[in-house]
Amino acid sequence: MAKITKLDDIVSLCKRRGFIFQSSEIYGGLASCYDYGPLGVELKNNVKRAWWKNVVQMRDDVVGLDCSILMHPMVWKASGHADKFADLIAECKKCNVRTRVDHLAEKDAEHAEEHTEHVAIDSVQAAAHDLSRKLCPSCGTVGRFTEPMPFKLMFETQMGANVDDSMTMQLRPETAQGIFANFRNVLDTTRVKIPFGIAQIGKSFRNEVTTKAFIFRTREFEQAELEFFCEPGTDEQWFEHWKEARFNWYLDLGISKENLRFREHDPDELAHYAKGCVDVEYLFPFGSGDWQELEGIANRTDYDLRQHQRGMRTLNRWFENGRDVNRVTLADEAEDYQSGPLSYFNDEQKRRYIPYVIEPSAGIDRSALAFLVDAYDEEEVRGETRNLLRFNPAIAPIKAAVFPLVKKDGMPEIARNIYDDLKKYFNCFYDEKGAVGRRYRRQDEAGTPFCITVDGQTLEDKTVTVRQRDSMEQVRVSTDQLKGHLREKLDM
Ligand code: GAP
Repeated sequence: MAKITKLDDIVSLCKRRGFIFQSSEIYGGLASCYDYGPLGVELKNNVKRAWWKNVVQMRDDVVGLDCSILMHPMVWKASGHADKFADLIAECKKCNVRTRVDHLAEKDAEHAEEHTEHVAIDSVQAAAHDLSRKLCPSCGTVGRFTEPMPFKLMFETQMGANVDDSMTMQLRPETAQGIFANFRNVLDTTRVKIPFGIAQIGKSFRNEVTTKAFIFRTREFEQAELEFFCEPGTDEQWFEHWKEARFNWYLDLGISKENLRFREHDPDELAHYAKGCVDVEYLFPFGSGDWQELEGIANRTDYDLRQHQRGMRTLNRWFENGRDVNRVTLADEAEDYQSGPLSYFNDEQKRRYIPYVIEPSAGIDRSALAFLVDAYDEEEVRGETRNLLRFNPAIAPIKAAVFPLVKKDGMPEIARNIYDDLKKYFNCFYDEKGAVGRRYRRQDEAGTPFCITVDGQTLEDKTVTVRQRDSMEQVRVSTDQLKGHLREKLDM
């Protein structure tokens, strides 16, 4: 039976305990932008670390990369984003608020079936849309919308100070293209052989029409993406491999099985580059419970590398058209594209081909929200409500808190020494303020797996109590075995 957690409880805990704040709050806040506070940044870094460990560090066939956010405008022309990355929107004629057409609910429906993240401009233009029974989510008017129109999602900015050579650039809407653009560099400078992957974690930006639910859908967010290059014909097997690997990653980090599922994309909702796609979905507590995408796993075929080969052939036209990608048409594909500059040479088979790509693409902020929701719990303890985050130790912001029972008899000094020693190995917290019960509760709410207390007995036999967050059980451990005890329990 799935636990019922309300999003409001999570938002309020995040604010109260310094996980997540509204951006620019001192000026009234900036919609859909969030800042990670002291506990939040530790959580987010741990999610990224856990992803990197699983996808890069523990594998022999994946290398990492960190690309710039600003890229040559031809990247977006070739990838298809410049022409196709848009949402279909309609404007309410009464209140002038624009809404994504796929987010509009029918008059009596509870909410719209939100599945696709985005759509290709050409596919949405072709489809007919009956909005006569659709409800404006802003003012409640039914069926008074303009004709649907595409709305481009990439943020623009100006690069360069001089009028003559400044140009309009886009902030990347996905990290993936930086990987494709460096495919040749990685091949030429490392010993990778197909099958292999290139992984990257970084910020992406989308001028989303509808933002949603706290950090679930924002305009600035972080992605963790892997482009796994394989021989055509082996792509379906690798697709299955990554489906299983990615699903298990969430389970291994503590997400409950009943809150996680796969959802295959219908052919008409596939992104312009994909042959197949499956989402890992999480049962988020929006409304009365809402299965929503956590991560997409796509078979991108050889689309991107082929497109970039065309882009490379097109470069001169970009100069000729005043460096305006909107006026450039991509060069036709060369007949010998399989041996083009982004092809791969297989030494043993003595043949060249453009590799296929399997892409698991996760949202770091969305995963952090799912980990928060899944870990959140409330229970009655001796007539009081205990709020706690049952985080897996790998993602817990603080691994151990150290307390002196009272601020006298040398207990603070011993506790400080323990803290100074442990913090060399993992993130720790020292607290000597207030009743020890309250200090435990504060750490429960932060999701800290272990609390160590120095008490009267420590002065006699050099043991401390180690309290486990979930069971609240306490054991005595001698101070010289404490580090080993915790490292074993924390698996670090
Ligand atoms: N390279 C493929 C790609 O970007 P996507 O499904 O558009 O695919 C992948 O995005 C993941 O990035 C999503 O599953 C989600 O976790 C995250 N994501 C996408 N848009 C987001 C947004 N506006 N806010 C937060 N996370 C987002």
